[in-house]
Amino acid sequence: MERKETDVYLRLDPARLPQHIAIIMDGNGRWARRRHMPRVAGHRAGVAAVRSTVETAARIGIPALTLYAFSEENWKKRPKTEVDFLMRLLCRYLQAEIKTLNENNIRLKYIGRQHELPESVQREMEEASDATSKNTGMLLTLALNYSARSEIVDAFRSLAEAAARNGGLDHMQVDEQTISDHLYTRGLPDPDLVIRTSGEMRLSNFLLWQLAYAEIYVTQTLWPDFRGVQLLEGIEEYQKRDRRYGGLGPDGHAPQSTSHRTHAEAKR
Ligand code: FPP
Repeated sequence: MERKETDVYLRLDPARLPQHIAIIMDGNGRWARRRHMPRVAGHRAGVAAVRSTVETAARIGIPALTLYAFSEENWKKRPKTEVDFLMRLLCRYLQAEIKTLNENNIRLKYIGRQHELPESVQREMEEASDATSKNTGMLLTLALNYSARSEIVDAFRSLAEAAARNGGLDHMQVDEQTISDHLYTRGLPDPDLVIRTSGEMRLSNFLLWQLAYAEIYVTQTLWPDFRGVQLLEGIEEYQKRDRRYGGLGPDGHAPQSTSHRTHAEAKR
């Protein structure tokens, strides 16, 4: 760990690490524009941020990390040249990273409508996830061609099919757990913390069901400049939050939000 990373790490409470962190990686285009470079240069630089973030998360013992690599909208609405570049970048990342993922005991999975991606990309994806399937450490999930609304549509379809097989919906118990079990993220705990880079205050159709009670941390840092130390800063901010899941604080009141308190007040 570099010195700054160690400094922030020492301020964290290892017993209260988030069990699942989700990240909306944003700002690659702006990073490139500021340098008078083409947008794709921002995506290329974003790979170093992915590497550093994944490695730090695994090293400190985060059980699950989900990265929003590209949305269904990105994939359908961006110029073909940019999409093709992202596909090549993804394939190169997968080929290059298998060794490091295995060394760090990281298992790789995906969420999103994988079948709509080019077949050659699907093959690379499958190869990488197969090669890491025996690992028992952090689960790294890449959201590729992902849309939360499509995920919910697919969950409804899968639920309807299960109902048809089981003699109708009346014969099935349908509760929140049932819905969760039909989402792409089945088996994963809901994220405790969602991080968005580059200052935008939106969820952009990411994990809409799963983020119901997540703490939101928005940093101005553009994704290509994000590193493990910024991840630790996000976790530090998360540990200052008071999570109530709709309930009240210990004194029977909804406490003032920590984001409106000074650090000195928050420590009292
Ligand atoms: C958002 O920035 C970023 C993306 C749409 C692509 C994310 C891809 C990477 C970080 C690199 C490849 C990923 C992996 C997993 C190898 P933007 O283009 O929307 O930025 P802008 O809002 O500044 O234009």
